Amino acid sequence: MTDDLDRDRDLDRARSALDSADRVFVLTGAGVSAESGVPTFRGSGGLWKEHRPEELATPQAFRRDPRLVWEWYGWRRELVSKCSPNPGHRALAAWAHHRRPHVRIVTQNVDGLHELAARSDGGEAALPVELHGSLFRVRCTGCGRRMEHRRPIDATSPETLPRCDACDALLRPDVVWFGESLDPEVLEEAGAAARSADVALVVGTSAVVEPAASLPRVTASSGGVVVEVNPRETPLTPGAHASVRGEAGSVLPRLLGVEAV
Ligand code: OAD
Repeated sequence: MTDDLDRDRDLDRARSALDSADRVFVLTGAGVSAESGVPTFRGSGGLWKEHRPEELATPQAFRRDPRLVWEWYGWRRELVSKCSPNPGHRALAAWAHHRRPHVRIVTQNVDGLHELAARSDGGEAALPVELHGSLFRVRCTGCGRRMEHRRPIDATSPETLPRCDACDALLRPDVVWFGESLDPEVLEEAGAAARSADVALVVGTSAVVEPAASLPRVTASSGGVVVEVNPRETPLTPGAHASVRGEAGSVLPRLLGVEAV
């Protein structure tokens, strides 16, 4: 009962902050896709639990055993291809479309579900900035070309891995690995959105991976406030203006006043 009251009070605080905001920076993480069936990274059954990241998500791992790395990414692609945006993604897309251009969605997710939600809502305004890249893009390890790539991956042997049409070098997933820097232009775009926002709406991230985790603090130190949606506390909770405890798929449609279609 008290939990429900607390949640309603936080929901009201969060809603009024969003209602009076001119610009909103939205930062999402794996939790926003949990209800779509995409495993998170650090929760129980999280993606890093069964696989050691240093074995799979580093440039060194790819140099050592590209087949194994591609096998893992191929598996993740297949898993994500079967998932659809949930009411949380859809509420965000509809709301951002309605409020454009004053909402910028920045995601750490590589699953493409925000984009799918935005496209089915018809709202280019809700296309996200993808901080950590995309499962469905590749980058050439030779000439650096980036391209969309949705075909199934054949990781039965090193010879069957995807190669560049232009220079025949091995293609790699266009995602940010441990020890790699984010694309400076992408980071600058996200930073500018965070700096100019009155509210940072932070959804479904454990807020421990930098530099993404610091972006809501940029909003706060520029005079804005942080509103969080997460079933659990995070390092951002103590400084948050409102922290709504709950799952994105049920909280976001209520918070944003948008019924998911
Ligand atoms: P994590 O797995 O670290 O955190 C997921 C967060 O989502 C946790 O705080 C959960 O409490 C919360 N959560 C779980 N279910 C939820 C739900 N239904 N609704 C809302 N929240 C929910 O994932 P991230 O914070 O996204 O980076 O991880 C950040 C980065 O770490 C990832 O982008 C990835 C990883 O290393 C790279 O691969 C570069």
